[in-house]
Amino acid sequence: MTARYENKVAVITGGASGLGEATAQLLVAEGGSVVIADYGEARGRAVAESLGDAAVFAKCDVTDEADVAAAFDLGVSTFGRMDGAFANAGIVGVVGPISATPMEDFDRTMAVLVRGVFATTKHAARTMSAAGNGGSIAMTSSIAGVQGGLGPHAYAMAKASVIGLARSAAAELQADRIRVNAIAPGTIPTGMTAHVMTGDPDNVDALVNRVDKAPLLGRTSSAHDIAEAVLFFFSDAGSWITGQTLVVDGGQTGAPPMSATWDSTKMVIAR
Ligand SMILES: NC(=O)c1ccc[n+]([C@@H]2O[C@H](COP(=O)([O-])OP(=O)(O)OC[C@H]3O[C@@H](n4cnc5c(N)ncnc54)[C@H](O)[C@@H]3O)[C@@H](O)[C@H]2O)c1
Repeated sequence: MTARYENKVAVITGGASGLGEATAQLLVAEGGSVVIADYGEARGRAVAESLGDAAVFAKCDVTDEADVAAAFDLGVSTFGRMDGAFANAGIVGVVGPISATPMEDFDRTMAVLVRGVFATTKHAARTMSAAGNGGSIAMTSSIAGVQGGLGPHAYAMAKASVIGLARSAAAELQADRIRVNAIAPGTIPTGMTAHVMTGDPDNVDALVNRVDKAPLLGRTSSAHDIAEAVLFFFSDAGSWITGQTLVVDGGQTGAPPMSATWDSTKMVIAR
């Protein structure tokens, strides 16, 4: 079987951990090269080193446009081309009731989750358009951006805005054969969710144990499930899809287990 990302190059923001790290591992395993762009330096360097010559680390705070631009330029100067961008770096950001939300915390959340995704899209478009080989941009939204009640207000608002940018950027970048899509993950055990749900970012196992009490589709989700969705959009398999949002949540929003709702197999016909 041929590798699915042979000789292609991608920038992954938030590549030092969780969904970004799993995506870096999959793209390299499938023949590609990656720039791990993250503000977490020790972890980012360690992930890049574990992937050998197929990865470089760029210290990058996505709220700083110069950092983002430099990450894409490093990819082109190191590997000679630019084919993919995974705009994925994220935080939970400000939580709590609307009436008690400090606006500076709201601004900081938006700077990472909205401005960061926009800057990543901007410099992906710049480098891919210049190379003239087309390309594919994937952005991490969330089920919190698709349905109410699944995330804090600023987070949910930011993740919905990512879906809007995927659509608008896809329309503009059609001309350069650059596709843009969003991925909306359900709950995936990573440092971020472990922190929110157990209070400890390093205790992903505690979260897995909780999720395993009611597994969707009979198993626990993993960051690899999202990596496969990114690769789908990056590879030729997704070459006729742009401006879309793919929910990857094991049925958490669209088809929760019948035991959790109404079991239609046990209903009687009403007359
Ligand atoms: N894990 C989930 O259940 C879930 C569900 C839906 C969406 N998401 C989204 O997936 C993305 C990745 O999250 P994750 O679950 O892998 O969490 P994670 O904490 O494991 O990884 C997030 C990474 O982003 C980096 N990062 C944060 N702010 C940054 C900044 N300003 N500049 C550069 N890097 C920064 C962190 O250092 C970290 O390496 C986020 O956008 C998150 O909102 C996660």
